[in-house]
Amino acid sequence: MISKNTIDQVFETSRVEEVLGDFVQLKKSGSNYKGLSPFTDERSPSFMVSPVKQIWKDFSSGKGGNVVAFLMEHEHFTYPEAIKYLAKKYNIEIEETEQSDEQKQHADERESMYLVSEFASEYFQKILLKSEQGKAIGLSYFKERGFTPETIEKFDLGYCLDEWDAFTSEAIRKGYQLDYLEKTGLSIVKGERQFDRFKGRVMFPIHSMSGRVLGFGGRILINDKKAAKYLNSPESEIYHKSKVLYGISHAKQAIAKEDNCFLVEGYTDVIQFHQSGIENVVSSSGTSLTSEQIRLINRLTKNITVLFDGDAAGMRASIRGIDLILEQGMNVKICVFPDGEDPDSFARKNSQDELREYLQENAKDFIEFKASLLYEDAKNDPVKRANLIHDMVSSIAKIPNQIQQEVYIQECSRIMDISEQVLFSTLTQLLAKEGKTGPAQPAKSKSFEVVRNTETSKVKVDELFELERKIISLLLLYGTVEEEFEDMVLKENDKGELVLEPEIQKAKVFEKIFLDLQEDEVAFTNELFREIYARVIAGLNQEGGLSLEIFINQLDSELSAEVTTILMEEEQYSLHDWERMDIFVKAKDTTIGRLVNETILALRRFLITQKIEELSQKIKNSPEVDSKEMLEDIMDYLTLKKVLSNKLNRVM
Ligand code: CTP
Ligand code: MN
Repeated sequence: MISKNTIDQVFETSRVEEVLGDFVQLKKSGSNYKGLSPFTDERSPSFMVSPVKQIWKDFSSGKGGNVVAFLMEHEHFTYPEAIKYLAKKYNIEIEETEQSDEQKQHADERESMYLVSEFASEYFQKILLKSEQGKAIGLSYFKERGFTPETIEKFDLGYCLDEWDAFTSEAIRKGYQLDYLEKTGLSIVKGERQFDRFKGRVMFPIHSMSGRVLGFGGRILINDKKAAKYLNSPESEIYHKSKVLYGISHAKQAIAKEDNCFLVEGYTDVIQFHQSGIENVVSSSGTSLTSEQIRLINRLTKNITVLFDGDAAGMRASIRGIDLILEQGMNVKICVFPDGEDPDSFARKNSQDELREYLQENAKDFIEFKASLLYEDAKNDPVKRANLIHDMVSSIAKIPNQIQQEVYIQECSRIMDISEQVLFSTLTQLLAKEGKTGPAQPAKSKSFEVVRNTETSKVKVDELFELERKIISLLLLYGTVEEEFEDMVLKENDKGELVLEPEIQKAKVFEKIFLDLQEDEVAFTNELFREIYARVIAGLNQEGGLSLEIFINQLDSELSAEVTTILMEEEQYSLHDWERMDIFVKAKDTTIGRLVNETILALRRFLITQKIEELSQKIKNSPEVDSKEMLEDIMDYLTLKKVLSNKLNRVM
C-alpha cells in the first residue's frame, strides 16, 4: 500500500490546473480556468477548474471532484494508480507500507507479461517476413487476402511457425521466463514439455488504446473442422477480452476526428477498412459487445455505426449490443451488408467511394433497423406486431435523454402506425418498473387537473431542494465568516411593556444557521445534504475550523461530487451568465448576512406552508376526525407564515 505520508504529499503538491491541463486545453477565465469538456462532445466550454479550491467541474456531464477524481474518471485509473501517476508527475518518491513485496511482485508480473507479449509480437512479425516458412505460408496467405505490405506492417501481423515449440524455445533463449509465457497463454506447459499455443497460425496482435500489446488472435490456415478458425489469447492479468477493442489504437484519432466509430465483427474487417481509407473502425472480435468496450468508444465519440454481416442469425444475436450503446447515451446506427458479405469482403470487392456510399445510404437508426428486420414477419400478425412495438419501446427506454426518447417515440409511431399515446404509456410503464420517469406526455392526454397537480407538487419539491442546497452552499462558502444578523428580540420598552424589536447581533455564519435550524427543529429532507450538513457543522465546530480541501478528500465519491458541484455553482453562473429566476436573483449584491437570513426565513416559510397543506389535506381526507383542533393549528401556522413573509419582504 502507498503510505499515508506519500498520499498527503501528493495532494499537497498536485495542482489541479496543471494536471488537468495535460488532458484539457484550459484558458484562464477570471480566477478560474475553463475548457471544453473531455467527457462530452461540446462546442462551448463548460468545463471549469478552480485553482483556489483545487477542484474541477464538468457542467455538461455533471462530473466533478478533486484531482484524483479526474484521473479516475478520465484515465480510468484506480485510486492507487492515480496517486502513482501524480507522484511520478511531481517527482515524489512513493513510500510503500506493509505487503510491499507481494504488491511489488504483482506490478512486476504485469510488466513482465507486457514485455513477453511485446517480444512475441516482434518475433511473429520477423518470422512472417524473414523465415522461409513464414513467407511461403503466412505472407502468401495475407497477400492472397489482398493485404498490402504497408497494411501488414501497420497492424504488426505475424506468423507462428508450424512447429511444437519454436517460439517458446526462442523466448526462453532470449531470457524470458516460462512462467510469464504461460501466464500470457503464449505457451502451454504440460509437465516437462512446452508448446506454442498458436502453432501454424497467422497472428493478429491486439493492442490497448495506448498501443501496448495485450494479446493475440491467431487464424488457422488449413481447413480443419475440429480446430477453431481463430484462437485467441486466454484471459490474463493483462488481457481482458471484454475490455479491449481490436484496432482501437490505430483508430482513436480518426474516430475523434470523424466523430463516428464503425463497429465490425472481425479482425480482417478492421484491416480491410483501413486499406480502403476508412480508419475509424474497431472490432469486438467475435464476442458480444460489452459496456466496457462501448465506454472505450464513448471517450472518443458519441456516435457508433454497427456493421452487421449479411446473415440474419448473427444479427439477432447482436441486437442486445444496441441497447447497451443506447444506455450510455450514445447515438447508434446500424448498417447491414448484402447477403453473404461481411465488411471485409464488401470492401475488397468495391471501390473506396462505393464503400462510403453504401455505408452512407444503408445506415439506419435503430427503430428503422428493427422495423426492417422484423416488420415483414410481423405485418399481418397482431401478436408479433405488439411484440415488435414493445421491443422498440424497450430500446427507447434505455436512452437517458428524454428529448431523444420523444423523438424516437414519434418515429416509432410513424413507422409502426400506432398512436404516440399508446407508445408513451408503454414507455412510462417500462420506465416505472425501473423507478425512472420519462418525457412528459403531451398535455392533452391527461385531464387538466391532473397535469396541474403534478406540476405544482414538482415545483414545491424543487424549491425545498434549492433552499436546502443554498444553506449547504452558504455553509461551505462562508461558514466561518463573521457577519451581522438582524434578529427580533423581546425587549422592555419605556413603559415597561414587552415588545419585539430588531437587534443586530454578530455571529459566524455557521453558528447562525446551526442555531436557527436547531430552534425550529428543521432537518434536511435530502439525504446527501443531511450528511454533508452534519459533517460540515462538526468540522467547523472543531478547533482550527474546516479546510475544504481536506474535507473534500475525506468524502466518498457521491458526497464529494455533490460538494464540488455546490462549490462550483458560483462559477457556473458566471460561466453561463444566467439570471436565476427564483428568489435569489439579488444574491450577488446583498451581504452574506442578509443572504443567510433570507435563506433561513424562506426555508422556514416553506416548511410552514407545507405543514398547512398537510393539515388541510388531512381534514379533507378524514371526515371522522374532529377538525376543530387541526383548524386551529392551521390558523397558528398561517399567522407565523405572515410574520415570516413580512420579515422576508423586509430583508429582501
Ligand atoms: N472469431 C473467434 N473465434 C472463432 C471464429 C471467429 O474469435 N472461432 C472472432 C474473430 O475475431 C473473427 C470474428 O470473430 O475475426 C468474426 O468471425 P468470422 O466472421 O467467422 O471471421 P472473419 O473475420 O470473417 O474471418 P475470415 O474472413 O478470416 O474467415
Ligand atoms: Mn471474413
